Amino acid sequence: MQINHIKNTEHLFKILKINQNFLDSKQKFFLHKNGYIIFKPSKNIKKKLKKLNLISSQLIKKEKDKGGWEGKEKHYKKGKYFEIGANRLGNLINKNKIFRSLITAPEILATAYEVIKDDIKVGGVDLRNPLRGQGRQRIHIDWLPRKKKNQKYIGVVCFVFLNDANKKNGPLRVVPGSHKNIGWPDDKINILKRHKKEIKICAEAGSTCVMNLNLWHAGSNNISGKPRKTILIDIRRRDQPQLLNFKKYLNKKKKEQLSNVHKYLLSIRSIDKNQKGDSFGPGDVYRKEMRKRKK
Ligand SMILES: [Fe+2]
Repeated sequence: MQINHIKNTEHLFKILKINQNFLDSKQKFFLHKNGYIIFKPSKNIKKKLKKLNLISSQLIKKEKDKGGWEGKEKHYKKGKYFEIGANRLGNLINKNKIFRSLITAPEILATAYEVIKDDIKVGGVDLRNPLRGQGRQRIHIDWLPRKKKNQKYIGVVCFVFLNDANKKNGPLRVVPGSHKNIGWPDDKINILKRHKKEIKICAEAGSTCVMNLNLWHAGSNNISGKPRKTILIDIRRRDQPQLLNFKKYLNKKKKEQLSNVHKYLLSIRSIDKNQKGDSFGPGDVYRKEMRKRKK
C-alpha cells in the first residue's frame, strides 16, 4: 500500500499498526523510573542477525579510519579514528537496505513516543564496537541537560546488540533513574569514576535496549576482546535537528527506494524542515561549557 502523506506520529502508528499500549503498564513504569528498557530479540531481528553482523563487519573492514565521520568530516585527518578504542560506522541507512527495517521496529518507536510524547523522527543510525582492552568512556548524557524538573525529554537512543553483551566485552553502563537529574553529570559526580549505582547492560544478541538521551551512561572496557557490535538508533523530537542531516546525506537513488514511512521517519520529504548544519549533538555545547568552567 502506498501512503501519500503521513500527518504526524499518531498517523504513522496507525499505518504501522503500532498500538499506543504496545508497552504494558509495568514496562512504562520501569521505563519512567529507570530511564531505560530492554527488549528480547524480535522475530525480525532474529531473522536478520547473521546478515547484520556480516555486513557490519565488512563495512568496518572497508572503512577503517574513515568510519563514523559522516556529518563531522571537518574534524577528520588521515589515520584519525572517530573514537579511539572503538570501531565506528555512520549513516548506515545509506549503506545497505538491511538497516532500514530496524528503524520501524514497534518496540523502539513505541518507547520513543512514550518518552518524547510528541512527534518523532530518526536522528541517526550508527554503529559502535569497543576494541580489546579499550572502550571505557566517561559518564555522559547524549543530549543537553535539562534545566528544570518539569522540562520534557527530547529523545532516546536504541542499542541493538548484534553480539551477546556480557560483563567482559565492554557492555554499556547506566545509572538507573539518573535521567531525572538536572544539569551535566559533571556537576554532581566524578565522571571518570565508576558510579556506585551503575549497572552493566548484559543481553543476548538481537536484544534492544532503549534509553532516555538524558540517562547517565558510558561504555566500559572490553576485557575479553570479543566483538560487541551495537547499532545505535537515535530518535528525537521532530522539531529538533538531526545527528545526521539525512536530507543531505542520503543519496538520491537511496531516497527514491525508501517507503513513505521511512521518508517520514528520516524527515527527508520536501515538506520536512531543512536543517542548516550537517550534524547536531550535545558535544560542542558540552566542550564549550567545560572550557568556560576551566577559565
Ligand atoms: Fe553516549
